[in-house]
Amino acid sequence: MTTFDLLLIGYGNVAKRFVSLLEEQRATLARRHGLRARVIGIATRRSGGQYVAPVFRRTGPARGPAVAGAGVRTTLDFVSDACVRDAAAARKRRLVMIETTTLDIARGEPAISHVRAALSGGAHVITANKGPVAFAYRALARAARRANRRFLFEGAVMDGVPVFNLVRETLPGVRIIAFRGVVNSTTNYILTAMERGRPFAEALADMQAQGVAEADASLDLDGWDSAAKTAALANVLLGAAITPLDVERMGITPETGRLALDARAAGRRLKLVASAVRVGRRIVARVAPEELPGDDLLAGLDGQQNAIILRTDLLEEIAVAQRSGSLTQTAYALLSDLMTIARDVLNRDAPAPPRGTARATRRSPPPARRRRSL
Ligand SMILES: NC(=O)c1ccc[n+]([C@@H]2O[C@H](COP(=O)([O-])OP(=O)(O)OC[C@H]3O[C@@H](n4cnc5c(N)ncnc54)[C@H](OP(=O)(O)O)[C@@H]3O)[C@@H](O)[C@H]2O)c1
Repeated sequence: MTTFDLLLIGYGNVAKRFVSLLEEQRATLARRHGLRARVIGIATRRSGGQYVAPVFRRTGPARGPAVAGAGVRTTLDFVSDACVRDAAAARKRRLVMIETTTLDIARGEPAISHVRAALSGGAHVITANKGPVAFAYRALARAARRANRRFLFEGAVMDGVPVFNLVRETLPGVRIIAFRGVVNSTTNYILTAMERGRPFAEALADMQAQGVAEADASLDLDGWDSAAKTAALANVLLGAAITPLDVERMGITPETGRLALDARAAGRRLKLVASAVRVGRRIVARVAPEELPGDDLLAGLDGQQNAIILRTDLLEEIAVAQRSGSLTQTAYALLSDLMTIARDVLNRDAPAPPRGTARATRRSPPPARRRRSL
């Protein structure tokens, strides 16, 4: 059984659901994957950082919030402090920071600093926050490679539906040339609701009540959330080095909702479309409402549904759709990243093959630790 120590930086909707999902899946993770996880510390903006009392660590993460010891003041200090305090786990590659602080659309901070501090302290990093990958993917991926740790962020786009994993794990040798998609649930829900005659404010209130809208809903409405996802996707899948500020951006307003109603009456759909394409050496990235023909795959998305269409060199177009979004799906993204890390660690720690198989082993692929971090 391999035990991972988890450091939760940010403890809001997503992190809390992740902790309860870990508890629900605890027996399966142990039985099928030989994986156990315990929360060793939690930090939030208002509370600072606090370590979880060992007595609660033993009984499981669901009881994680019970804490002991003096708080460490800033979340960044806490990350560094925890890596030193749990250096034994870090050395064995069993320390993981789960970063779920709020998106800062101006600079991606302090999440980027949290990621750097964790990697340099020997922890792997998992985040659902778009900031680090949208603002600093190249530098952070390089830092992860140097530290020989993983930097994973499946939950940053389309929750637990595989997008980054899909390309990294299942499309070797395929080049992504462009993508287009609907990647923001709140705005798609509002546009669909307005097509059905519901007021803009009422539809927005639904999304806020469900915890789906960003803490600051203007991030959704003004297209910033989509722009951050577009930058993240372009940086990882197209090899770009852009930020959300480089994405041409237009959001939605009550007036856009009225246009959606007109489009629907004409057999078309108005969608907030995020797209990026490589043009020569430049990446052209854009978020804007677009009127789509009724038979466009994106036109079929209702409510909170999302989809991304990848244009590739060898497989033409591949589409991934998310028919419903929920906190469980975002929490699953964090869990799937944790399982990827566990697989790496277990492969690395696997005993050497018996004598006589050495030749075959030499021909087998390089060990997981050499794999580039995505
Ligand atoms: N909710 C979703 O469905 C969803 C889906 C995909 C991705 N995400 C992403 O996941 C992340 C978390 O979302 P959430 O819904 O869990 O947010 P949330 O409920 O608002 O929780 C955010 C947490 O981050 C902490 N925090 C905020 N700013 C901080 C700062 N500057 N320094 C340290 N801690 C800070 C908050 O601490 P305080 O409470 O003390 O302020 C809180 O514990 C966000 O980046 C979001 O974009 C969310």
